[in-house]
Amino acid sequence: MARRRMIYEGKAKILYEGPEPGTLIQFFKDDTTAGNGEKHELIEGKGVLNNRLSEHFMTGLASIGVPTHFIKRLNMREQLVRAVEMIPLEVVVRNVAAGSMSKRLGIEEGTQLPRPIIEFYLKNDELNDPIVSEEHIIAFGWATQQDLDDMVSLGLRVNDFMSGMMMGVGIKLVDFKIEIGRVFEGDFQRLIVADEISPDSCRLWDVESGQKLDKDVFRRGLGDLSEAYTEVAKRLGVMPRQN
Ligand code: C5P
Repeated sequence: MARRRMIYEGKAKILYEGPEPGTLIQFFKDDTTAGNGEKHELIEGKGVLNNRLSEHFMTGLASIGVPTHFIKRLNMREQLVRAVEMIPLEVVVRNVAAGSMSKRLGIEEGTQLPRPIIEFYLKNDELNDPIVSEEHIIAFGWATQQDLDDMVSLGLRVNDFMSGMMMGVGIKLVDFKIEIGRVFEGDFQRLIVADEISPDSCRLWDVESGQKLDKDVFRRGLGDLSEAYTEVAKRLGVMPRQN
């Protein structure tokens, strides 16, 4: 078989040209990074778990009408997705103070927020993905006001769905990050959830013990990351099998 053309290699994933126009193949690597690549390890099987978990979250979202780029899982490490024009922003939704919000605002980690709070970060490795305001986004043309409204709405819908799904298996969805892309359909365009949703991009705390079941285990050196992700997959009943 001819070697596929690589479109883009990121820290944890590779995108290849897909079999049909308008499609891509998303490959999940075992590479695990923190601090914008400062800490880097290969964690065997992490890519397999994230491929399966992202499939689970994306298909769940599609089932309640939230549009995503996911088409189908191809194998243990690859999924077929729709090609999108990525919006150069990360959308973070927070239910509980943690991580950079706690640091920036001095709010103790674990403090329940009065309502879900949405933040935007500019995707720019050289600048360490700085937080940006809606004013910045509009003024510098990274997205339109309509895009912003749609991103907030997508973020809140993903939050509602994911919070419920995780609470059902005894896990608190503390916060998460999504990335959003634009697709063109005839004269119309709309925004859809792209990239991945996995424990790499969420904070997940066990409701009973507070145990962290997400990438903070790696960032903060708290133990075995693949054990944590396996626990999430087991509770959701989506342990990857051979293919
Ligand atoms: O670090 P911070 O507290 O801003 O992260 C908020 C949420 O966004 C966390 O769930 C984290 O895993 C996720 N995130 C991410 N990729 C980044 C930054 C944050 O997935 N580049």
